[in-house]
Amino acid sequence: MTESYADRESTAGDVSRETRGAPTTPDSVDVSRETAATDHAYDTPIAREAAQAVHVLNVRQEQWPKPLHPRILTVANQKGGVGKTTSTVNIAAALALHGLRVLVIDLDPQGNASTALGIEHGVGTPSVYDVLLGGRPLREVTSQAEFTPLLSCVPATLDLAGADIELTSQVAREYRLQRAVNEYLEEIAGNPETVPPDYILIDCPPSLGLLTLNALVAAREVLIPIQCEYYALEGLAQLLNTVELVKSHLNPQLAVSTVLLTMYDSRTKLADQVAAEVRDHFGNLVLTPVIPRNVRVSEAPGFGQTVMTYDAGSRGAIGYLQAAHEIAVNGNRQEH
Ligand SMILES: Nc1ncnc2c1ncn2[C@@H]1O[C@H](COP(=O)(O)OP(=O)(O)OP(=O)(O)O)[C@@H](O)[C@H]1O
Ligand SMILES: [Mg+2]
Repeated sequence: MTESYADRESTAGDVSRETRGAPTTPDSVDVSRETAATDHAYDTPIAREAAQAVHVLNVRQEQWPKPLHPRILTVANQKGGVGKTTSTVNIAAALALHGLRVLVIDLDPQGNASTALGIEHGVGTPSVYDVLLGGRPLREVTSQAEFTPLLSCVPATLDLAGADIELTSQVAREYRLQRAVNEYLEEIAGNPETVPPDYILIDCPPSLGLLTLNALVAAREVLIPIQCEYYALEGLAQLLNTVELVKSHLNPQLAVSTVLLTMYDSRTKLADQVAAEVRDHFGNLVLTPVIPRNVRVSEAPGFGQTVMTYDAGSRGAIGYLQAAHEIAVNGNRQEH
């Protein structure tokens, strides 16, 4: 069997504690070639981190598989602070660093995803609010992230805070984002000079209101981040129930495709228990890699960056690299 990202890091860094016992994915052939000859050279922490950074930043220009059609994933969990935004922006960055075109739609009035991607989102900035309530095309409010032209973002401003209520009285209030996304993709398809995104990731606020509903109606897949903490599964039944309702009434194509364990602290037994419980419940929807709790991850947004560029050699960056790789490879497998 060939070596996966998880295996490689278990020989190259402390991520081993988090990925111990993880089954291998057979798709990372290129990575194994890079590793075999060089493992012995990583015997100082600095050398190890430098080597990890080379992988995260994809210095060798490895290209991950492109999906046949744009994959639209909504990152949702009505529980606050579980890693929705962090997962959205870091997975987006990892995909973009590997040659995939990504659009992030920030659907949270807090605008944290916009901040992390270094996108302007002060009040008055054209934003997703104008799309949902002003009928403005998505293209007009999209900005490119600084670190790569492959990553763009539709920012959220504080105006969005009132959108849940303002949308209530609107016609087709649950379909606003879906329409905008479909029009955006059709417009790109009709113009030979533009290239469609491979991934659209939608970052939701911590509620199951109309904004999250719009995200669920616009998407094909739901990615649920679950924090490895007390009460991790609490409230999930409500989220799954909402997904089922949306599926039966508003968007038959929707499915929970991915569950990601976040903020895993390998020093606690609790984290292992939660991870085991989540895997028991969601089976192979749970990504093999888990995201370690790592201070570099939480520092990055303060610099308008994702951890992938802020500290590419950190355990957090490696965790998100592995998770994004599995998302890219799994999705491709499902399509063929
Ligand atoms: N792997 C990690 N290691 C350390 N800190 C983390 C990690 N992931 C997220 N955090 C921190 O935890 C906090 C919550 O994360 P995040 O904002 O991504 O959650 P969220 O689900 O989007 O929150 P909200 O529900 O408010 O939108 C943030 O301060 C973030 O920097
Ligand atoms: Mg958030």
